[in-house]
Amino acid sequence: MRTLYQRAVRPAMFTLDAERAHEVATRGLALAHRSQTARAALRATIGHRDDDALAMEVFGLRFRSPVCVAAGFDKRAELYNALGALGFGAVEVGTITAHAQPGNERPRLFRLADDRAVINRMGFNNPGAEAAEAALRAHKPDGVVLGVNLGKSKVTALEDAPDDYAASARRLGPYADYMVINVSSPNTPGLRALQSVDALRPIVRAVRGALDGRAVPLLVKIAPDLADEDVDAVADLAWEERLAGIVATNTTLSRDALRAPAEAVAAMGAGGLSGAPLRARSTAVIARLWRRAGARVPIVGAGGVFTADDAWEKLAAGASLVQVYTGFIYEGPTIARDIARGLGARLRREGFARLRDVVGSAHR
Ligand SMILES: Cc1cc2nc3c(=O)[nH]c(=O)nc-3n(C[C@H](O)[C@H](O)[C@H](O)COP(=O)(O)O)c2cc1C
Repeated sequence: MRTLYQRAVRPAMFTLDAERAHEVATRGLALAHRSQTARAALRATIGHRDDDALAMEVFGLRFRSPVCVAAGFDKRAELYNALGALGFGAVEVGTITAHAQPGNERPRLFRLADDRAVINRMGFNNPGAEAAEAALRAHKPDGVVLGVNLGKSKVTALEDAPDDYAASARRLGPYADYMVINVSSPNTPGLRALQSVDALRPIVRAVRGALDGRAVPLLVKIAPDLADEDVDAVADLAWEERLAGIVATNTTLSRDALRAPAEAVAAMGAGGLSGAPLRARSTAVIARLWRRAGARVPIVGAGGVFTADDAWEKLAAGASLVQVYTGFIYEGPTIARDIARGLGARLRREGFARLRDVVGSAHR
């Protein structure tokens, strides 16, 4: 059955430029972020109720739901409590960089509706670590786990990346339940070179140093375009450096197997592709990480999660949590509730007591 969002709201939103539609949607969420009454109204309308069998304990944190919001949706840290009210277990705010930056020129976000996908080259538009700190200080998380995703400022040279990440970590560490070192966006020149173990290790150490003894779980976020050996190398690094986990994956540079005409896709230009076409590759990366590190290195799965079955696939491949971004655009604000309900139903149908028993079950 199609929801009200899919019948009425989405067609209206899709007449707008994609970034404009995001701004319209987030205006309401920003209000709810700041108002407890509005959040109660959201909860009542969406009708979300926690299911204890779905709660997850991962890197020392309790997630009410395994369905979380991926980085890039709440870039300014001004929506997370509203997203919590929609039933998400965690919100990863950012990417935040040490310096405020405008990102790339618009248009920089494009829908491929027939593919249930988007292409973006936002380029880390964000208010910078100082403004993000003020936003985070103003509103304590209300029952939602708060992740902070850090990136490198565009003005900072690649070799100075460790200091740039560390400057953000120093400011934002006190507010983060967990922190993610993002070295996998395709929209900051050279950033993905930082995924090599030699470049990544000094960043991890600098960020940890900046956290000044605070036990903030630290993760890295990787691209789906890494070769298998590089995925293994990141898993090994995560274990050696005692990282709390790995977020897999960011958007892809690939444009394979799309329904949209090749010329239309080419006209959109450079950027990362997300949504349904990314699903299988992202799950394959999760499975690879699991085979390499198993439960020693928890995985947060992202890439083309729209339904409970998509989420289940990632959990069974080895993810302990899943994140959505593009699914929110296509499925609407009930997506966290709908996926949670579907996971609960499938759990009981397949005879699992708790969702954590599903993690990695595809390998058994
Ligand atoms: C418009 C847009 C902006 C994004 N911005 C960021 C970002 O700032 N930092 C980041 O780590 N990932 C960012 N991502 C990637 C998502 O967090 C996620 O890893 C990816 O989109 C795959 O999930 P999905 O298929 O559910 O969208 C962005 C994705 C989209 C669509």
